[in-house]
Amino acid sequence: MALLSTPVEPNSRILGTGSYAPARVMSNAELEKLVDTSDQWISTRTGIRRRHIAADGETTSDMAAAAGRRALEAAGLNVADLDLVIVGTVTPDRPIPSCAAAVQRKLGAADVPAFDIAAACAGFIYGLTIADQFIATGTARCVLVIGVELLSRALNWKDRQTCVLFGDGAGAVVLGPSSLMRPGESEGVRRAGILSSLIFTDGSLADALKIPAGGTARPVDAEVLRESANKVHMDGQDVFRTAVKQLTASSAQALKASGLTSRDLDWVVPHQANIRIISQVAQRLGFPLEKFVLDLDEYGNTSSASIPIALDEGVRDGRIKPGQHVLMCALGAGISWGAAVVRM
Ligand code: ACO
Repeated sequence: MALLSTPVEPNSRILGTGSYAPARVMSNAELEKLVDTSDQWISTRTGIRRRHIAADGETTSDMAAAAGRRALEAAGLNVADLDLVIVGTVTPDRPIPSCAAAVQRKLGAADVPAFDIAAACAGFIYGLTIADQFIATGTARCVLVIGVELLSRALNWKDRQTCVLFGDGAGAVVLGPSSLMRPGESEGVRRAGILSSLIFTDGSLADALKIPAGGTARPVDAEVLRESANKVHMDGQDVFRTAVKQLTASSAQALKASGLTSRDLDWVVPHQANIRIISQVAQRLGFPLEKFVLDLDEYGNTSSASIPIALDEGVRDGRIKPGQHVLMCALGAGISWGAAVVRM
């Protein structure tokens, strides 16, 4: 089941991007001291060389607010311009209240509605899709969409199958009406905006990637802690196969819904989980790997933060230019996935 938005003219556009990664960097060599692994295994099997790890006392909402401030600054806007804050995360500060409420407070965005989305690695695409709809209906004008994850505290650091894969970080975009011009832009330019966005879930695959306990089905007790059932568990190969299949299919669908073909695309900003997943998707889409914005060597898999971090890097280093077409695609726990095509 997919939710589809196929505007003739885009409803909303990205006005600014921002990201944040904690200062502490953990190399593969450091992981060799924690579990039976090697730099060689991790880098050849995943493409990951380093990941950033939040400092003691640093929270998910701290990272989200930092990325959000940078996105607002890039958009030339301030918190008073915001109508809505959406935070994609499965690692909130605490179960109640929402992480978005903490982010709203830290940004000083008083009275602005704020909520979380739990779509794991697809959280940012889900947030983008929802924000686009709010703007399309005129319910909101400017929306801050954040993807943030502090997975280092949700990992079993004795499980080599999972602990080598993930990192902490946050990325954000400010979305506004596509009619809004940015300083220096001229009316003659084709309207920038979200040309298509699609989201999907297949709950029958929920067991492939999960934190089995810590919710209402199995509250934390001594046994849960002994089994590390409150940490990430994954069947890597199931997730791998599903990711290649569904990222390819949803990307092709999003491209079709946007009215573009792969020849019109300038960049793909994929979810940064595994270079082998990304390479296979590139091959199946017939789009060269050099046109993929990649940073998983530096950050690992930051789940919902991975696309907005890579997007921000691509924009800030000048690779992604105004007017260019960017395809984004992500898949994660749920299994939930999605893809979007954007004219920058
Ligand atoms: N270091 C050394 N050896 C390891 C490690 C490790 N960190 N992890 C597993 N191995 C071993 C296994 O035990 C196995 O040993 P064996 O052959 O003696 O049994 C061997 O390496 C091969 O294991 P596989 O699981 O077959 O390795 P695979 O090539 O499938 O790679 C990986 C595993 C990287 C987890 C891969 O399946 C993957 O990336 N899956 C996608 C998972 C993912 O990214 N999830 C994140 C969220 S969802 C998403 O973002 C798409």
